[in-house]
Amino acid sequence: MTDFPAVKQRVIVVDFGAQYGQLIARRVRDLKVYSEIVPFDIDLDLLRSDLPAAIILSGGPASVYAEGAPELQRGLLELGVPVLGFCYGMQAMAAALGGTVPQTDVGEYGPAELTRCAGDSILGSISTKAPPGSEAETDVHHPSVHAPHPIPSALLGDTPLTQTVWMSHRDSVGAVPEGFTVTASTPTTPIASMEDPVRQLYATQFHPEVHHTTHGNQMLAHFLFDIAQLTPDWTMESVADEIIAAVRAQVGDNRVILGLSGGVDSSVVAALLAHAIGKQVTCVFVNTGLLRKNEPEEVEAVFSRQFDVDFVHAHAEARYATALAGVKDPEQKRRIIGSEFWRVFFEEAQKLEQDGKPVRWLAQGTIYPDVIESGAYRDEKVSTGGGATTGSRAAATIKSHHNLIPFPEGVHFDLIEPLRNLFKDEVRALGLALGLPDHIVHRQPFPGPGLAVRIIGDVTPERLEMLRNADAIVRQEIDAYNEQLFVETGKRDSDRSVWQYFAVLPDIRSVGVMGDERTYAHPIIIRAVESRDAMTADWAKLPYEVLARMSSRIVAEVEGINRVAYDITSKPPGTIEWE
Ligand code: XMP
Repeated sequence: MTDFPAVKQRVIVVDFGAQYGQLIARRVRDLKVYSEIVPFDIDLDLLRSDLPAAIILSGGPASVYAEGAPELQRGLLELGVPVLGFCYGMQAMAAALGGTVPQTDVGEYGPAELTRCAGDSILGSISTKAPPGSEAETDVHHPSVHAPHPIPSALLGDTPLTQTVWMSHRDSVGAVPEGFTVTASTPTTPIASMEDPVRQLYATQFHPEVHHTTHGNQMLAHFLFDIAQLTPDWTMESVADEIIAAVRAQVGDNRVILGLSGGVDSSVVAALLAHAIGKQVTCVFVNTGLLRKNEPEEVEAVFSRQFDVDFVHAHAEARYATALAGVKDPEQKRRIIGSEFWRVFFEEAQKLEQDGKPVRWLAQGTIYPDVIESGAYRDEKVSTGGGATTGSRAAATIKSHHNLIPFPEGVHFDLIEPLRNLFKDEVRALGLALGLPDHIVHRQPFPGPGLAVRIIGDVTPERLEMLRNADAIVRQEIDAYNEQLFVETGKRDSDRSVWQYFAVLPDIRSVGVMGDERTYAHPIIIRAVESRDAMTADWAKLPYEVLARMSSRIVAEVEGINRVAYDITSKPPGTIEWE
């Protein structure tokens, strides 16, 4: 199997169970340097054979001397590359090299004022006390806070003498290891940062990756560019080139199949594969009949005209209608929709192979948060920059995916996951760089089971039609509202912009009056929420005019609807979807 070229410069974030682990990698990438997360017990031989350009040790919830605490492998500090430790990472560094980390009863949480050490006064110039009344009211040594010139620090560089930093710790370093200099302190934490420029080891008790640390980004930049001498060249264009080259090397002249849903991730995979291998990839779009108005046509237009791939539109609307007839239970709906999808997909794959050319690869839109959250990164040991994965490195991940995909007897594909090292907004940026239209790249989340979980009770073609038409109106009106917010604020994700919005058709009817006639028809429920990640959400405080327009249009334009309600439940306690 062909291996992937590693990115030239890779910064690894060693994960000690940090609350902010992903955030560190994000911040580094925002500075245009590729970064990835590795477990604290990573195999050092693998790292030696594929040396990172720099290492960041994350924070973590444990005490360094606690039983079962994730141990820092001393060898990580001896690879000859610059290392920067945050919080637990700093304490672990100190403990590994002969410093001390006394257990204290005084933690420090939230913003703190950091003062850089002055001149040549390394600890001991002034004796101060912890805040009166605190349990730690003992003498602590504290550097002079008034000296105008801080001692030189490559990490703190040109940041101010005093500045706000974000702290979240209980223990802290009591004595630095030999060779280290203390560079800053806070009233509670005398050793708030330290460095040994000879061994290129740096550490902060505070969290530079958190935006409350006002000069945190500057410090990270000092570490990456002044200390590690990296070049900020990890751009979406370079990522696209790298992944395309990696895919070509991996796939060779074999055939690839992709289940294209029209969602952001699978669309970006399709666009990448189109650039990398053109007609060697077949994109199978399974039309369940459960998609939103005009969606199948839009997907087909993009992938049959704009991109040079083999596009198969599998019309499965009738099959789905039959399979779902009479099914009311939401979980059963989901199961039927999922298993029917794979049945249609594999039938299409088998049809393709009738020309005698086998399909070797199955492409998937797995992204980095999926990899991290499933713990799969722990099995990768060393991963590749920005590209897809090789079989050997991600064996465990591939296995778990295979467990989820119901391969028919005798069918086997190898997985290719070109987005598995990218965060969601990087996937969007990549999509734009590859020329995908905005309406796909910035598409709102849409559940796999589609409109079926937005129809309470029976899913019939008539009810689907009603919901699709009402939903189209909701989307038109809220799209327009979001656009107006964008014009006003210049931001696509302003506090007021609506994140997900759709119509729901409940299984009830109510009376109404239209013209001279009484009606007995269905209501539509509008759901519109503000959220960042779907974990929590609040109902959108839409202007009355927008609500009024949706209501009058839905009742006037959608046959079978005589009433409109707005769902004003946050998540929790509600969920975003109704089923
Ligand atoms: P809930 O309803 O749990 O939804 O608050 C959170 C987010 O997940 C989406 N969602 C789904 N996505 N398959 C999916 O791919 C599903 O079965 C599913 N159910 C909910 C939902 O749209 C929201 O963005």
